[in-house]
Amino acid sequence: AAMTSGAARERLDMNAYRERLEARLGKSREMMRVVLNKAKSNPKRVALAEGEDEKMIRAAYQMQEEGIAEPILVGKTTTILRKAEELGLDFDPTIANPRDGEWDHYVDRLYELRQRKGVTKSEAEELVRRDSNYFASVMVEVGDADAMLTGLTHHYPSALRPPLQIIGTADEANYAAGVYMMTFKNRVVFCADTTVNLDPDEEILAEITKHTADLARQFNVEPRAALLSYSNFGSVTNEGTRKPRGAAALLQDDPDVDFPVDGEMQADTALVEDILEGTYDFAELDGPANVLVFPNLEAGNIGYKLLQRLGGAEAIGPMLVGMDKPVHVLQRGDEVKDIVNLAATAVVDAQEE
Ligand code: ACO
Repeated sequence: AAMTSGAARERLDMNAYRERLEARLGKSREMMRVVLNKAKSNPKRVALAEGEDEKMIRAAYQMQEEGIAEPILVGKTTTILRKAEELGLDFDPTIANPRDGEWDHYVDRLYELRQRKGVTKSEAEELVRRDSNYFASVMVEVGDADAMLTGLTHHYPSALRPPLQIIGTADEANYAAGVYMMTFKNRVVFCADTTVNLDPDEEILAEITKHTADLARQFNVEPRAALLSYSNFGSVTNEGTRKPRGAAALLQDDPDVDFPVDGEMQADTALVEDILEGTYDFAELDGPANVLVFPNLEAGNIGYKLLQRLGGAEAIGPMLVGMDKPVHVLQRGDEVKDIVNLAATAVVDAQEE
């Protein structure tokens, strides 16, 4: 009997687990559906810098089939077509092959942009022909593609550097940052910066907050931002806590900021309504924060991964914000669905250009 009840309990546990999982996926599916539908209403050209990668080819097929984007696979034509056939994908992909000779204007453009950054003409030629991250970046910069995705086969910083150098930040921005949207059963939070700025000062933190709030609005979420720390509103004062505090003050003084923001505060203060309304009822937030800005890259990167692995959140990202054109740098292990989701967010971004 003990055995039976043990097995039954296990089954119950499994059922409860499955229900929780579905509820959670429900929220993230709902969030993504908004974006996927927006993307389909006006699909844009997305350059996939790692066009010879099988996951990228499968993602391109899906984007094209579902009308989410017009993918451009960057790579060798014969390799891409062979792989597509091996994968049993019946489609006629758009391919840009950097080695096939018609890209002299890309070389000229890269040279023009980087000649005073130590790049010679022959190096420019080499970068365009041999490094597909540079090729795709120039493609977006000159307007032959509307957005770019890369990162599956590179270390994050080396995939990020070419778009930072060639495309750069938007006019009103100085810093890019990586945001993860984390969806739970009944709530969504946007975490930043999880991938780019190692040790941001208060100006950078303020800028990251604004970009992340803008991104939340793209997902129809009204932002409430918290600058996170290990201290609550001056309970500890040192160099570490001054930065998020200073960033919150800058944002509160900024006439362009039209969302509630406060800090510095601990993560539980940001998320638990009773703490905010009880102990810190003077805080500017009118509800739990959904834009969480971490004080540095260690905290941000570790924080979102804990939410994902222990908190059971579904993670969508990293979405690069602050760039002049939509660029997303994937992580190495990312799956086809991650690529398609990020392509859709890039398309929606490009629609607003
Ligand atoms: N925002 C916008 N542009 C930037 C930023 C930024 N935060 N940082 C650098 N740049 C620009 C520079 O202005 C420069 O442009 P320029 O050459 O036209 O003047 C260009 O990018 C290159 O800058 P460098 O200072 O030469 O590059 P650096 O070697 O510092 O690289 C990088 C910049 C890649 C962002 C670096 O800061 C970095 O490695 N960050 C951490 C990335 C990381 O390891 N993330 C954690 C892992 S991510 C994960 O989990 C997937």
